[in-house]
Amino acid sequence: MKNNLIFISPKTKVTDIILNNPNMLIIFEHFGICYEFNNKLLEEVCSKYNLETDIVVTVMNLFNGHNIKERLKYSYKSVETTINFLKSNHSYYSSEKYPKLKELINKMVEVNDHPKIIMVNKFFDLYYAEVVEHFEYENNTVFPYAIGLITKLNNITANIKDETGFSIAEFKDNHEDIEEKLMDLTNLLLKYLPVKNDLKIRRELLLGIYELEHNLSVHQLIEDNILVPMLEEAEKRLKNEQ
Ligand SMILES: [Fe+2]
Ligand SMILES: [Fe+2]
Repeated sequence: MKNNLIFISPKTKVTDIILNNPNMLIIFEHFGICYEFNNKLLEEVCSKYNLETDIVVTVMNLFNGHNIKERLKYSYKSVETTINFLKSNHSYYSSEKYPKLKELINKMVEVNDHPKIIMVNKFFDLYYAEVVEHFEYENNTVFPYAIGLITKLNNITANIKDETGFSIAEFKDNHEDIEEKLMDLTNLLLKYLPVKNDLKIRRELLLGIYELEHNLSVHQLIEDNILVPMLEEAEKRLKNEQ
């Protein structure tokens, strides 16, 4: 990744954000923002799309490689904005990124007859099955729990019961890294499999893996450092109010 990526504030112009890092387009897409910026500031675009500006700014700064120090305050809208963003990430990875990598691996297997090439396919399939499980757990258990929690807090008298016994600590304790294994795949491709007619495909594959790795590591930071602390705070508040 480029290392002269800007630190973004609510007053940064949206076009400057994209000119400085065109990869940021996907982040705008995940927040549901279309490209019609007209020299607008990020905070203006966020308010037009009814998004929490500090969540958007924090996510973009993480994407540009800047750390966040302050804890983001919990609110109904901030949890909702974060979850919608994460869900959009999941479907982008599942419907675009992973199928594209799989397609490249298949092409590579077709042209490279090295006996070990089949390992790449096997490795990828096993890894992808784990990824699907990871996303399904978050989509079907963690996110509905989070939405239930903030809905309860917003409407404390509604008496919505959570019968699952789930808590955000359970997610925090078991949340695994899914981008680490991509590094194993990169190593396999770079160190152990000789190139045979597949140089161009391999370049595309390695660059695709590199991009996915970065996206997944930011995704994980958002889950661990933005979503989890907000939900911990929400759980505490609910306990005090009950
Ligand atoms: Fe996720
Ligand atoms: Fe995750």
